[in-house]
Amino acid sequence: MRVAVVGLGYVGLPLAVALASKGFEVIGIDIDEEKVKKVNEGVPPIEEPGLPEMLAEVVERKKLRATTNYDEIKNVDAIIIAVPTPVKEGKADLSFLESALTEIGKRLRRGQLVIIESTIPPGTTQGLAKEVLERVSGLRHGEFKLAHAPERLAPGKAMTELFTVTKLVGGVTPEDAEAAAELYRKLTSGGVITTSAINAEMSKLAENTYRDLNIAFANALAILAEKLGADVWEVIRLANTHPRVNVHLPGPGVGGPCLTKDPYMLAYPMEGLPRDLIIIGRKINESMPQHFAELVRELAEPGSKVALLGLAYKGGVDDIRESPTLKIYELLKDDYEVSVHDPYVKQSPIPFTNDLEEAVKGASLIAVVTDHPDYKELDWEKLAGLVKEKKVLDGRKIINKEEAVKHGFEYRALGVGL
Ligand SMILES: NC(=O)c1ccc[n+]([C@@H]2O[C@H](COP(=O)([O-])OP(=O)(O)OC[C@H]3O[C@@H](n4cnc5c(N)ncnc54)[C@H](O)[C@@H]3O)[C@@H](O)[C@H]2O)c1
Repeated sequence: MRVAVVGLGYVGLPLAVALASKGFEVIGIDIDEEKVKKVNEGVPPIEEPGLPEMLAEVVERKKLRATTNYDEIKNVDAIIIAVPTPVKEGKADLSFLESALTEIGKRLRRGQLVIIESTIPPGTTQGLAKEVLERVSGLRHGEFKLAHAPERLAPGKAMTELFTVTKLVGGVTPEDAEAAAELYRKLTSGGVITTSAINAEMSKLAENTYRDLNIAFANALAILAEKLGADVWEVIRLANTHPRVNVHLPGPGVGGPCLTKDPYMLAYPMEGLPRDLIIIGRKINESMPQHFAELVRELAEPGSKVALLGLAYKGGVDDIRESPTLKIYELLKDDYEVSVHDPYVKQSPIPFTNDLEEAVKGASLIAVVTDHPDYKELDWEKLAGLVKEKKVLDGRKIINKEEAVKHGFEYRALGVGL
């Protein structure tokens, strides 16, 4: 089977490589010439564990080729779209999707299957996508097939999750869903569930909004625990011993490309209290960098050096998209000498170092923002010899408190009252 993947980013490239590894003939299409060049050289333009080896292999075996030329879709059986769908001022910006659909529509042939993997507002497949494809191609839906198959992978785990996670496939009609399901059954061992396009669109947004709201609840508990003198981490651990409770963990903010935007996409057509529920959750999470910066201000004198540990938006990855650290840095940089450490990150718009010693040397406060596994095993004896003042603020309850205290550090954690 021949497949075109349109958009070779964090979703599209791993997907294209995964499909190629399963024997599909894959054409990757992107408007970014630099990205296309790198993919054809077998070098991933994004960081993703396991991707470099698999990409090199499928390019070598000629199972995957990238191009900027949309004409290549004339020769494929299915076209999968994975272009960005950002949210601007609370509303989805579907201009990238519309542009991709227009280019596809110009070349669409009878019998082809179009699948949208991008995260989209409910109603987009049946509405905008069908309308653009019909208008531009001159074909009627039915002469081509159309489905939405939301991508559920987590960056950092893409090369395993693509092969294992249950795939949801929503068709404009059951026949469309079945055609797309047939493709994904060859990719994932996690099973494929077919539904309508609108249910698939809404379930993807429901997944991410559920997680965002759950974290907002944990953050609300953290702020209360600080005020009352409780320990939110213990409170949540205890609550989660109940068989039907699963409270997520608080932190200095929610980052990443999905949870920061998908709730807005779901809330947009809502009104009144349901809309308020989702927006308030978002606002709580968006306020956490400010809360963390206030905790820093309680612990460190203005003018002193503060070492922020972790620049990635979550532990174990180098992805800094919407990272809380970027905001915390902005909030503190005018009043403190702020150093930022991350073991994984390679590029960032703010200054940072991969060298922990350099970051903490002369610091009056070490503030842990990201739950990188590396921070569980910090050498507190060594750090004690490097810092100016022995103070640590743990935003993720991740460091070895006993070790830090043993070496003279004053320990504070987000969500723990005095
Ligand atoms: N990143 C994630 O973890 C993740 C997870 C699940 C779902 N999603 C969703 O998947 C979609 C893609 O996200 P991403 O993170 O891969 O984005 P990305 O920005 O990493 O990649 C998108 C790619 O599309 C290309 N592109 C833009 N317009 C194009 C066009 N008209 N034709 C061809 N290529 C075009 C860009 O050059 C880029 O390479 C979004 O809707 C996102 O919400 C992302």
